Amino acid sequence: MQLSRRDLLRLGIATGAASVLPGGWRSSRASDLASSPATRPFVLELLPGRGIPPIARPVAPFATRPDPADCVNVDGTTAFHVHGPRAVPAGTEFFIVHERPVEHLFSPDLPPSLLWGYDGSIPGPTFIARSGTPQLVRFVNDLPERDSVGIGEPITAIHRHGGFQAAEDDGYPLDTFCTGQSRDYFFPNRPDAGLLQNEHSTNWYHDHAIDITAQNVYRGLAGFYPYRNRIDTGNENDPPPALGLPSGDFDVPVLIQDRRFNRDGFLVYDSFDHNGFLGDKFCVNGLIQPFLRVARRKYRFRILNGSNARVYQLSLSNGQPFVAIASDSHLFEHPVTVKSFVLGPAERLEVVVDFKDARLGDRIFLVNRLEQTDGRKPGNLVSPGTPLLELVVDRDAADPSRVPDTLLPVTEGPRELLPRVRVQRRFKFERTNGAWAINGEFFDENRINARPRVGEPEIWVFESGGGWVHPVHVHLAEGFVLSRDGKAPPALERGRKDTLLVGASFASEVRILIKFEEFLGRFAFHCHNIEHEDMRMMGQFEVVP
Ligand code: C2O
Ligand code: CU
Repeated sequence: MQLSRRDLLRLGIATGAASVLPGGWRSSRASDLASSPATRPFVLELLPGRGIPPIARPVAPFATRPDPADCVNVDGTTAFHVHGPRAVPAGTEFFIVHERPVEHLFSPDLPPSLLWGYDGSIPGPTFIARSGTPQLVRFVNDLPERDSVGIGEPITAIHRHGGFQAAEDDGYPLDTFCTGQSRDYFFPNRPDAGLLQNEHSTNWYHDHAIDITAQNVYRGLAGFYPYRNRIDTGNENDPPPALGLPSGDFDVPVLIQDRRFNRDGFLVYDSFDHNGFLGDKFCVNGLIQPFLRVARRKYRFRILNGSNARVYQLSLSNGQPFVAIASDSHLFEHPVTVKSFVLGPAERLEVVVDFKDARLGDRIFLVNRLEQTDGRKPGNLVSPGTPLLELVVDRDAADPSRVPDTLLPVTEGPRELLPRVRVQRRFKFERTNGAWAINGEFFDENRINARPRVGEPEIWVFESGGGWVHPVHVHLAEGFVLSRDGKAPPALERGRKDTLLVGASFASEVRILIKFEEFLGRFAFHCHNIEHEDMRMMGQFEVVP
């Protein structure tokens, strides 16, 4: 039997037990995975172009290309959804993004590490989706076929996480493109007939190639994909029905990721850690513990946990509450005020923080108090915790922004949909034979785990066994949480969610109400502890007419 690239990876032959970058050598796993070198916190400032990613700018329209069908995945498969050139609607915005290596400075106390970034940017450029304006994004794989670093494989697929797009544009994990190839993704960004029910708030995009997603994302392939529509306009000066949420410089993406470095200060990864790789350095937008200057006014922070396996519990050091306005892809019906919140991998929470009562010179920290030492589950809350981001209050600024009491009313929720449910499905996420399974089975592109009918609401029940936490993510649609271990969901889960923590103290059984609309075909659902995902804790559903 021939060893596939996947087998080689598992054996550590393709990447080495501990992967180190850059330099042409690999040292022993033990010394590489000891504690990272000391770094001084709060010396790098989040600024446009360094930490605050650039906004992706459209280019002149171009003709679409056929999808590559011959990129060989780590497991030996090739693309499933392949189509020829496509006609796109008039008014479509076009973009071209190059995935390429970039020397990135995590901290002035470490040498630069050789990462992979969309357009060489860490995080990737921020794409803004405007309701009613479709987008076609060509991703070009300019990653080197071989490098000495050994983290990731230059085989990529792009998933707009939380996005509503056709199966062939959804970053299905086999639909990859290799070095020198590109793939065109069409994002319809369709307006929702005035209801705004299906219009999103903050999504993100990241690599999704089969078996190698964890390393590719760890190496830098992730970015934000926020949306704008007639109530969330991106301009705080707009009159109602615009909500008037803080905008421009006061609307800040916050990507939280943990990373680990070897004694020489280069990024390391352990490709043998299938439980969930944890770092001991905390980055915001690619910088270790940076600071941000803020004015005495309201800010919108779009907080995304882009870590492979770590769960956070976040609060502000001055005890000030957050006004949460959105979770995952959707604005809440009403703002929810909380002193702290938990964020699992791939989850988003958007909060408004008003610094108007701070004094000039105040330093406020965004703090993680949740300890976690392995991929199984987070441990205890600790005090004082680890400050991830320093907010330095250094000026005054006008504040025309508002946070209305009603954000996005739920017009079609459990009340309307529950009476229509005819199908309930259960998915148990657990460890099996040293890898990660759903209902006892590993991902197999030839097996469909569920065939929901388009437009028909269903109840999906997620269970976790063995005391592990699994952030469960379903593509294409967001669900309403019905219950956690039989109890009503907490306030921050009373909106629609695309990723849910299941297991351990987060409830061993989570029930959601979900409905897939419009797009037929195969989509993935999986654990978003990306090491679990790569070790096959993924299934697929096929939306059928
Ligand atoms: Cu964020 Cu299937 O992924
Ligand atoms: Cu998992």
